[in-house]
Amino acid sequence: MFDGFSRKINYLRLSVTDRCNFFCMYCRTKDLCSESSSQLSEEEIFRIISAFKKLGIQKLRITGGEPFLRDDIFGIIEFANKIGIENINITTNGWLDTEKIKKIIKSPLKSINISLDTLDREKYKFVTGIDGLDKVLETIEELKEHKKVKINTVLIRSVNLDEIKDLISFAKKNNIIIRFIELMPIGVANQIFKDEFVSKDDVIKRFKRIKEIGTVEVSAAKYYYIEDFDYTVGFISSVSDHFCKTCNKVRVSSTGMLYNCLFDKTGLRLRDFLNDEALLLRKIEDFVKKKKLIRSLESDMPMFRIGG
Ligand code: GTP
Ligand code: 5AD
Ligand code: SF4
Repeated sequence: MFDGFSRKINYLRLSVTDRCNFFCMYCRTKDLCSESSSQLSEEEIFRIISAFKKLGIQKLRITGGEPFLRDDIFGIIEFANKIGIENINITTNGWLDTEKIKKIIKSPLKSINISLDTLDREKYKFVTGIDGLDKVLETIEELKEHKKVKINTVLIRSVNLDEIKDLISFAKKNNIIIRFIELMPIGVANQIFKDEFVSKDDVIKRFKRIKEIGTVEVSAAKYYYIEDFDYTVGFISSVSDHFCKTCNKVRVSSTGMLYNCLFDKTGLRLRDFLNDEALLLRKIEDFVKKKKLIRSLESDMPMFRIGG
């Protein structure tokens, strides 16, 4: 499927729930939790994934909220695999029990992106609202030998600007990928953005010998080799930079709204067409044709609903 600017759209980010057991300060504060929305059923998700597969989606990233809170999550992953999507990935907070970790290892998932903003237990509690650092470190330890694990670290001035080097050392020691993510002014993050934003350049200038490598795959992340560490790290710098020209993705929210961009306000309600596949395919294609060339950097949309 192509958009109006001849960009090939072959990556679907699907948020399967807006529920989460964490309260990250930039995503989902406690007062937002009473909000309820009607999340897609397993059957609705199957229809959506099938439609996008028919339209040429090759890469699926399952997001949330916390996707592993759904009891049917492994069934969803199996379904995507069964219909021939080879590149299936998931983004999680990593607060997972042993049973789930074993299932992940056996699953067809290609990569697991895990949020880790700090290695300090108290700061971790402060950022996420949960005393979960040890468990998440265990998850990383257990998964790293079996699956591609990437750490997502949102840069937050008062929390981890002094921890960049420790986080890179941690990634290197575990031989996993780390990406530093610029805080985006989305939803509740708007309230802390001014005080807490750190740009990619703010981080890069701390290293004397650093070399840009560029993007490794079509991805939001750009990689840099840091000679001081003899290690390569990624940056997702959506605020100071943008990667719209090469954007290959669309998003479906946990309530079944299709968005062409993380920052779009208008979406297409897929639920209206799920009983008629031919119509669903046509509606999706028409909507994707309208994908804009460049995004505006403004959004009230809760991140846990649109799925990052
Ligand atoms: P892969 O490239 O498949 O590893 O996925 P990803 O890194 O894009 O996925 P992940 O869910 O780990 O997201 C990491 C961060 O990138 C999150 O903060 C996302 O919101 C952000 N992100 C992903 N895609 C986009 C995008 O198209 N635009 C913007 N602005 N941010 C994005
Ligand atoms: N800005 C940047 N990244 C964010 N994430 C959640 N909210 C924001 C935000 N406002 C990140 C999480 C997770 C990924 C899916 O999105 O840390 O790693
Ligand atoms: Fe939950 Fe992820 Fe949002 Fe944190 S960033 S509250 S883990 S959805």
